[in-house]
Order: sequence, then structure tokens, then C-alpha cells
Amino acid sequence: MNTPTSAPMGTRANTPVSTPYYEDVSPGSGALPPRARYARSDAMTLSLNGKWRFRLSPTAGTADASFAADGYDASGWDEVAVPGHWVLQGHGAPIYTNHLYPFPVDPPRVPTRNPTADHLRTFDLPQGWQPSGDAVLRFDGVESCARVWLNGTELGEFKGSRLPHEFAVGALLRPGGNVLAVRVHQWSSGSYLEDQDQWWLPGIFRDVTLLHRPEGAAGDFFVHAAYDHLTGRGTLRVDSAVPGRVTVPELGVDLAAGAEVSVPVEPWTAETPRLYDGELASAGERVALRIGFRTVRVEDGVIEVNGRRILFRGVNRHEFHPDTGRTLDLETMRADVTLMKQHNINAVRTSHYPPHPDFLGLCDELGLWVVDECDLETHGFTEQGWRDNPVDDERWTPALIDRAARMVERDKNHPSVIVWSLGNECGTGRGLSAMAGWIRERDPDRLIHYEGDPSCADTDMYSRMYASHAEVAAIGRGEDGGPPRRGQLPFVLCEYGHAMGNGPGGLTEYQQLFDTHRRNQGGFVWEWIDHGLTHPVLGYAYGGDFGEELHDANFVCDGLLFPDRTPSPALAEYKKVIEPVGIDAGGTAGTVRVLNRYDFTTLSHLLFEWSYEAAGETLGSGVLDVPPLAPGERADVPLPAPPDTGQDAAESHWTVRALLADGTRHEVAWAQLPAAPGQRAAVAVPESGGPRRAGELVTLGPAAFDARTGELRAIGDTAVRDLRLDVWRAPTDNDNGADPVTGARSGQLWREVGLHRMQHRLDAVELSGTALTVRTRVAPAARDIGLVTVYRWTSDGARLRLTVSVTPEGAWAVPLPRLGIRFALPDGADSAVWCGGGPGEAYPDTRAASRLGRWESSVDALQTPYVRPQENGARADVRWAAIGGVRVAGDPEFWFTARRWTTEQLDAAEHRTDLRPADREVWVNLDHAQHGIGSQSCGPGVLPEHRLRAAPAEFGFVFTEEPTL
Ligand code: GAL
Repeated sequence: MNTPTSAPMGTRANTPVSTPYYEDVSPGSGALPPRARYARSDAMTLSLNGKWRFRLSPTAGTADASFAADGYDASGWDEVAVPGHWVLQGHGAPIYTNHLYPFPVDPPRVPTRNPTADHLRTFDLPQGWQPSGDAVLRFDGVESCARVWLNGTELGEFKGSRLPHEFAVGALLRPGGNVLAVRVHQWSSGSYLEDQDQWWLPGIFRDVTLLHRPEGAAGDFFVHAAYDHLTGRGTLRVDSAVPGRVTVPELGVDLAAGAEVSVPVEPWTAETPRLYDGELASAGERVALRIGFRTVRVEDGVIEVNGRRILFRGVNRHEFHPDTGRTLDLETMRADVTLMKQHNINAVRTSHYPPHPDFLGLCDELGLWVVDECDLETHGFTEQGWRDNPVDDERWTPALIDRAARMVERDKNHPSVIVWSLGNECGTGRGLSAMAGWIRERDPDRLIHYEGDPSCADTDMYSRMYASHAEVAAIGRGEDGGPPRRGQLPFVLCEYGHAMGNGPGGLTEYQQLFDTHRRNQGGFVWEWIDHGLTHPVLGYAYGGDFGEELHDANFVCDGLLFPDRTPSPALAEYKKVIEPVGIDAGGTAGTVRVLNRYDFTTLSHLLFEWSYEAAGETLGSGVLDVPPLAPGERADVPLPAPPDTGQDAAESHWTVRALLADGTRHEVAWAQLPAAPGQRAAVAVPESGGPRRAGELVTLGPAAFDARTGELRAIGDTAVRDLRLDVWRAPTDNDNGADPVTGARSGQLWREVGLHRMQHRLDAVELSGTALTVRTRVAPAARDIGLVTVYRWTSDGARLRLTVSVTPEGAWAVPLPRLGIRFALPDGADSAVWCGGGPGEAYPDTRAASRLGRWESSVDALQTPYVRPQENGARADVRWAAIGGVRVAGDPEFWFTARRWTTEQLDAAEHRTDLRPADREVWVNLDHAQHGIGSQSCGPGVLPEHRLRAAPAEFGFVFTEEPTL
């Protein structure tokens, strides 16, 4: 199809005279108008998924179209699975870029090297297929442009990768063999509209289906199901293109399509996903309806559903599977929704395109608020100051409207969808306004979101990504300036908490801002899952691993789940931060305060349990009687009398947990309240029985030292080596990120200063009557800064105490990554036991989910397997830890880390598979302090209160032999 060649004045006339369809700006031709998607009807369907014949050509024009003709012999071709991406099936390779187009920016032209894959399959109509009526061929997703033939007749071509396209094919079908031919181009004009931060993965990656359309089949229909929270009644009207009847047996509803009825109902919310089964019956088809009654609107500057303010505890979800890319089966989708629900997540933004339609069915059924986002991003135009941006060029507007319409028409009957999003990172332009106008006209009952236009001209909410805590606070107070219209709108963070590698830090502080200001209605963490692709050598591959010319490395691995959907520590942290029940100390002694943070439900579905723990052991537990508080209500609930501990000196606390009362006993929320501070175990060491010289060694209590250097050699039978001050950590992705204000990168600054190559100068080894004192200065070459470090060793005979004093010298302009000691256990250790925070990793600003207890883990399981290795695995608030024959108690508590490799090896590794233990050796870090994590891989850095400044410090450890381990 040709497009007009006359370009508006002032723009480049860069469209050739005869434009191939994959380079014209139109959305395509030949497809049917978009319509509602439904999961079930009594009309027959035939899945055309499966093995297809496949031929790849390097350019769009290499192969002629004769393969589409009847009788073509493709038996010599390869095969691929449909749905699937050919680059993940041994043909070509994936490319990862964040926002850079991997081709010259010359819209709408694409490179000559345009991998083009011809797909072919034959099919027979199944038994019982009625010859009467029509049939529709549906493609749920093809990246990026397809041209389709059935039985040698061309049906048309289309763009819009993550959107459905249907063709009427009834007249072409044959009772015997049918031949379906699809030519797919990796690059098309549509690629300019699909510059999302993800892998470029061409292919027929969603289902292909043949749908029988019987005589009198249902056409498009629109379920309007509102809820009036004042009367408790629902209003139902199903507009239908074809006359029909609507029945909802449970509600006694039986009315004509287009007519309206009002009935008492239970509303649909993400917390109470109440669906009513119904049916739309036209003359020739019965379509199943799943109806949820709810009303969404902005009231007094606040998003309300069914009359109540909601708070988004959301995530951004890309569709991803490490083996199949954006091809997902139903179980994987269900796993995503179930995992979200189990982690207190109540909302999902379908970044940055409409998901597989079945995903939305799961959101309806299990309960998630959905921001359904259009398949649109033109981010790469930012490189040229947004010049030629398609969203501000009216030649592209039909394509934009087509995308909006395909999303809205497909998904409009899902109660979970409460917001339409125009797209992501497109700058601003008339095309976006046109989309918004079209959507409002078609569906005035939902809200519109778009983040990229600070004027909020087209939207119902002010949306930002990665705004700092200070800015979110200002927005909450209405002090952020901006156009007057914006000031009246509710505020959401469509992206925040960049979950790349270790982190994000600072989620707790964001949540406080959502709880404090009505206008701040929560946000969506970036993002759900790491997009690491399974790789035979590297474990998981990221940008650059396929030899891409341009790439953005592991910026694609920034999820709350690892690629195999194992939760990362960040998901546990997020779950804790957003828990829907607040549990805290009560106003009077012996009480606990319970706050219902749900938006709609009481607490009657929960069971509350208390337990009392001393020195990490549970001494008693029972059920706590909590009233069924309404949303926002709180109550002080009496705790029982503390059990008799019999160990007066033991530190003790209460743990109160809210569990689902449905038999799963799934934990929804918890908190620990201190009961008695107790004495820290084994920290007071009388200074007696001082160091004794024994040849080359000095002995002190259970320990032996090198007499010349003062280095610790052994504690009892356990060899120890290289114990010394340590300030270095393998920079996290957040450490390596640029501060949004100053541009400074901590990881880089640390290396410039030389914190990864600190030298340890021995100044003195002193033996006194009671102590062995080793004086050192720890400093990097070429710099005049240093840390004067004194190790003072004492013992009472059985126990060995180390006191470390650190005094900075010079002007320290950078925070310290960590401050503590490290040492090696050359004979190794398989596991560790500790009393303190666990079970997972924690850092100063990612410690909400860390709970006190007595924990045990293998050394291997202490590691958090970030796709790009980096600092990980610290356990917080550790009172004592036992590993490899040594037990160490802290004075005060410490951060405990143990691994089979050094920090330097961790730092050098680029993939998980680079980390291989050399021998049995285990390295242990005991940190007095850690620098926070922040979210600077994309967003704000470490909050001031979590920064580790170089300052005088003193901390102690008490070592004993622990022969059992
Ligand atoms: C945002 C963008 C996302 C992703 C994220 C960083 O700017 O919308 O798609 O790129 O940053 O991971």
C-alpha cells in the first residue's frame, strides 16, 4: 500500500515514491475492525499454534512471495514453534537496547538488513466445523509487521506487535487442506513506535486462532457494570453490535442487549474480586461474560473506586520468560498473578503494551487493579531532541489511534482494567492527544494515564517515574508547582524503586509518603522480572551477550523476580513494606496496635498469632483476638502475660503475625516488638590471662597470632587467615548508577579513590599484660586519606575479644561502602547459624523484611544470585553467628556475610557462572556498618540517613570455638 509522498513543509521528504507496506506509516490494511475479546463462546475455534515451516531471509526483499501460493513445497524448510520468537529458536539473535533504536533513525524507513521470516502451515478444518457462517483468523501478537495469505489469497498486512489483528477468511476456507502463509519482518515503521526498554524479539509470539463465526454470531459488545456505593446497587448494560439477550442467573437478570438494569450486588475490587457469570446470547452464538461491578472516578483530586480512595501497591510487568521471551503460557501468567497476590501487590501496570489477553482474565479473577498500557514508545527520539517524533506528526496519527482502539476494544470488558495508559516515554504531541480523545469518547468510565507530558493535558492523574522522596513529599503537600490543572490531579509513581540487582533501597520511606498524603496514591515498582535469557554458558544472558553493536548491558535485569521467577530479596522487602495490616506497639504497655490498611475489606479474613521469643527461641505462642476492624480503623489489642523465660538475661520480643484464616495460613503481615532488652550474649570479657609469646606465635586464650605481624592464625582448631579491616564491596548496580542531581556514581568514585585496593601498613604490634594490640593504617595508593585502625585483642581464657577502633585521616569526600572486618576460613564451612536478622539479605535501607530469629543456612544459600554478580547476602542485626568452628558475638550487633569467593572475585564477575569456588575456603565479613543501597541505577540515591560516612568508630567481636560446626 502506498502513502502520500508529499510531506508537510519543513520536514524531510524521506519516503520513497513506492513505499513498501512495512515502511509506510499506516497501521496496515485488510484487517477487521477491532472488537471485544472473550474467553469462551460456543462457537468453534481451531488453534493454529504448533510447528510451522520456517525460512529466514536477510532482507525484506530477498525471497519472493511464491511460498504463499497454493501447492508450494516447503518440506525442505526448517521448523519453528508458533507462538515463539525465531531469534530464540536458533535463527539470528536477540538484541537488547534500552532506548536507542538499533537502526538509523530515519522514520519511517528501516534498514535493508531486515530479517524476514516466512512461516507456513497447513491445517484441516476440524470435525464438526460448520460450513455456514463466516470465519475469522486471529493473530494475538506478531513482532513487528506481518503479511498474511490464506490458500494463496492475500489477506492484508499489519503492524502493532502486541495487539490483535483479525481477518475475515470464511470464503477462503476449504474443507480439506488449507495453507496459511505469514511473512514477518523484524523491522517496520511500527518499530519506531515500539522502542520499549526490552529485547527486540521478532516472531509470531502469541496465539494464532481460527474462529468460526456462525450465522448470527455475536459481534463487538461492551459490558457497562457500575457500582453505586451509596445504594449498594449495580447497574448493568451490555451494548452489543448484534441484537442479543443478556442473562446473569445469580442476579436474576435477563434483559435485551442495550437495556439497563439496576440490582443489588457485591462490588468488584482488587481485594474482593467478585465476578458474576453471565451470558450474551445472539441468534447464533452464546458468549460467556464475567461481570465485575465497579465505578472508578477522580473525586476531589483523588482516584476512587466504589467511593473509596485506593492505594496502588503496584508493579510494572513486562511479559517475560527466560526461554521463550514474550511468549507466555497460561501457567506462567497465573504464576505471576499468584505471586503478586501472595506478596501483597494489588496493582499491575502492563508496561509497556497490552499483555496476552488471558492475563487480564486472571487479574479479574484473582484481583489486581490494572493500568493497561498501549503498545507505544518512541523513546529513541530523545537522542535528537524529539525531532521527527511520530507522536507529534499527524501522518502517524492513524497508526496511534489504531493502537489505542485495538487495546481498548480488546480489553474493555475486564473489570480489573481501571486505567488506560497511552504508552510510555514518547515525549509529547498531538498524536497522544488524539489517542486520549478517542479513548475518552469510547470509554468515558475509565481514567487515562500518561507519564511523559508534565502538563497532564490529556490525563486524569499526575504521573512520574523515579521522583525522589523529597519531591514526592512536595507533590503530596501540593507544593510542586506546575500548571494549575496538574495541581488538582491525584499523583501516582508509574515507576519507582528500580529493582536492578541488589535493591531497591528506600521503599519504606516512599510508603510513608503514600500513607501521609491523600494525593499520593502509591506506585508501581520497576519491575516485576529480570529479563535474563537462558544461556548455555553464561547462565542468564543480558545485553551484549549476543554480540550486539549497541546494547545496554544488564539494565534489562531489574526485576523483583530472577529470570526463573524465584523471588529476589527485593520482593520480600516490598511485600513487607506494602503489607495491608499495620502492627505496632500499642499506646499502653502490654498491647499491640493493629491498623487495617486495606482499602475495602475488614480484617475478618485474617487470623492473628502471637509468639514470644527469647534469645532466638520461641517460648510461647497463641492466637490474638483482633476485632474485625474496618479499613483505616485501628485498635490496641492486649498481649498475654509474657511466658516465664527462666532466662532473665535473655533478649526477648513479641512477634505478631496476620495469617490468612482460609487454611493456607499464608502470612500477610507481621511485626516484632521488643519485650526485654536482655544482655547481649558473651560480650563482656574480663581482661585476664594476657598474650604469651611462644616462638613465632603469640597465644591469647583460644587464639594463636603471628608474633611478628600480629595476624590472627587460629581460634582453637580453626585456622583463620587475612583478618583485617575491610571497606570494599563489589559495587551494586545501584552503586554504579548516576546520581540524578550531581551525576556522581558511587562505584566509580570509590574506585577513583582506591577503596578496592586499600593497603594495610603495620605500625606496631604491642603485647601488654592483658592485650595484644596491632596498630595499622589502611589507605589507598596515591591518596592522602586513610583509616588509622587499631585491633585490640583480649581474652578471658575461653573467649577472645577483638575491639577495632577506626579513625579517619584526611578529607573523605566519598561514603564508605562498608566498615568492618573480613577474614578467611581456609578449611571452609558448609553452613552457618546465626541469631539476628533473617532469613534473607538486608542492607540499611532494605531491611524491613529482616526479622529477628535463629537462622541456619548453607553457605551457598546465603548468596543472592543476582544475574550480574555484585555485593549481596548480608544478614542484619546479627547478635552472634557460628561458622566453620568459630562462633562470633557482636558488640554491638553486626552485619554477617559469608561466601566462597572474595569480594574482588565477586567484583570481577560478570555472570553467575564466573563465580566458582576455588577450594574449600570461605570468606567472612563482619560489618559494623554498611552503606545503604538506594535506587540510583535509575532514580534517587541513598537517603542521607542511610549513607555511611567515614567517621571515628569502635566496634567489638567476641570469638569462641564452636566445635559442633
Ligand atoms: C523507564 C522506562 C522503563 C525502563 C526503566 C529503567 O524510564 O519507562 O521502560 O527503561 O526506565 O529500567
